[in-house]
Amino acid sequence: MPRISVTKLAPALGAEVSGIDLHLPIDEETLSALKDAWASHLVLRFRGQALTDPQLLAFSRLLGPLDPPGPNPYGKPFLEDFPEINVISNVKVGGAPIGNLGDGEAVWHCDMTYVEAPPRAALLHALEIPSSGGDTFWSNMYTAFETLPDAMKKRIAGLRAIHDATYNSAGVMRKGMSEVTDPRKAPGAQHPLVIKHPDTGRAALYLGRRRNSYVLGLELEESEALLDELWAHASRPEFTFRQVWQQHDLILWDNRCTLHRRDAFDPAARRVMHRTQIKGTPVAPAFEAA
Ligand code: OGA
Ligand code: MN
Repeated sequence: MPRISVTKLAPALGAEVSGIDLHLPIDEETLSALKDAWASHLVLRFRGQALTDPQLLAFSRLLGPLDPPGPNPYGKPFLEDFPEINVISNVKVGGAPIGNLGDGEAVWHCDMTYVEAPPRAALLHALEIPSSGGDTFWSNMYTAFETLPDAMKKRIAGLRAIHDATYNSAGVMRKGMSEVTDPRKAPGAQHPLVIKHPDTGRAALYLGRRRNSYVLGLELEESEALLDELWAHASRPEFTFRQVWQQHDLILWDNRCTLHRRDAFDPAARRVMHRTQIKGTPVAPAFEAA
């Protein structure tokens, strides 16, 4: 297999990997080069990979055991034959959505941080894309942490926050949930605000999602103000990479040290993505509580 080449896509994060055909078996040396590129760039893009579902699953499994999709609002897998695959789509068949997230904006988030061991990675494969809109953005949470003022780094080092399970990133209530009126009582895992990345050992800001987040031990107002400040910082444009999709792009991202969001798009257009995710480990703090 020819050597892969890796080209940066944005100063903050993201790289294009070429010289690889993901339909073919991948040797150990190439896999290890891919993992190194992934650790350095956090988001990898592979263009022109028209993968079948079994091929998407086979490639995903090289990165670790799959983590099945979280419960969708409809209570059963979108693909009966491939329950490990999630569908992200606005398309409806007979009035019923074939996937999650619709056509609206998906706000900044990290996937499934409302559980104790959120997925380590996700892969999104573009099968059909609108002619414009629906761009996806990732933000680098190592850089976000490193560029905080020292006083803020110290302030948040030992703090933990609730990661609300109630709503998905499109604002849709998850199955079995009810409305949250007080973020202090939101259901969901509690994680450190600054985590230690299990592979690289680096500190990363770990925010999850803004809605119904709450920093434990603070007055609600104080928590809201702190979170607003951290979110404004974490979503600064210079920390981000913007993905303008082409059909058959495959994107792999690290779900521990990045956030992502998606633009809205024309409801009359079709956008169909097949998605897998890789099991993670419980989240560990970068610093012990004082
Ligand atoms: C996801 C997600 C955004 C998109 O798959 O986790 O947030 O661009 N997708 O569809
Ligand atoms: Mn997501």
